[in-house]
Amino acid sequence: MIELAPSILSADFAHLAEQVRAAEAGGATVIHVDIMDGHFVPNLTIGPPVVKSLRKATDLPLDCHLMIENADDYIPAFAEAGANWISVHYEACRLLNRTLHHVKDHGCLAGVVINPATPADFLTEVLDIVDYVLVMSVNPGFGAQKFIPSTLHKMRQLTDMRAARGLSFRIEVDGGVALDTVTDVVRAGAEILVAGNAVFGSGDPTRNAQHLLKAATEAALQKV
Ligand code: DX5
Ligand code: ZN
Repeated sequence: MIELAPSILSADFAHLAEQVRAAEAGGATVIHVDIMDGHFVPNLTIGPPVVKSLRKATDLPLDCHLMIENADDYIPAFAEAGANWISVHYEACRLLNRTLHHVKDHGCLAGVVINPATPADFLTEVLDIVDYVLVMSVNPGFGAQKFIPSTLHKMRQLTDMRAARGLSFRIEVDGGVALDTVTDVVRAGAEILVAGNAVFGSGDPTRNAQHLLKAATEAALQKV
């Protein structure tokens, strides 16, 4: 099943609750929250207090994408604030196995994220632990960047690895997902589609979400 996870990074932070509700009205079923620390990525965003407020604004699962160093130190606070899904970067975790278990121990779904330059093969040892794999299709740090097409083969590869090993993790894509790229990512195997600029950048978030989901669902139907 295809799900749309609008990223609030491109939303109006002064009106987050309304923006999230508008995306939900357009069919969004997950809210993607980008957490940046100014170290792992060259940008700063938000922390647990905003997650706590968002928690009151929506019943949708909050998908917290941690682009931070020392994720272990912050996982409890995000879980307590109301995160439902927490993903950590392969590139930022020295003890990835431990960190993923840490996420699960706090009652959240655990995801692992790979940057565009990280091969999907590097995840072999954690695929049986994670609930989802997030393939970055831009270099993390900013919204509204250009989609990197060479990341598509990793979504295909993960689909094959999952089937070969009888696993059930889901595949999420993040970065540059818009009407002109959504068909390719769905055909490549992405099931959870993060979109920031394409939902909140301009126009009406409800209509934007509807259009993206329609294109994604059509692509998924063509696949079978
Ligand atoms: C990038 C973030 C993304 C970003 C996606 O570092 O992880 O979630 O908000 O934004 P768009 O869809 O605008 O590329
Ligand atoms: Zn993200």
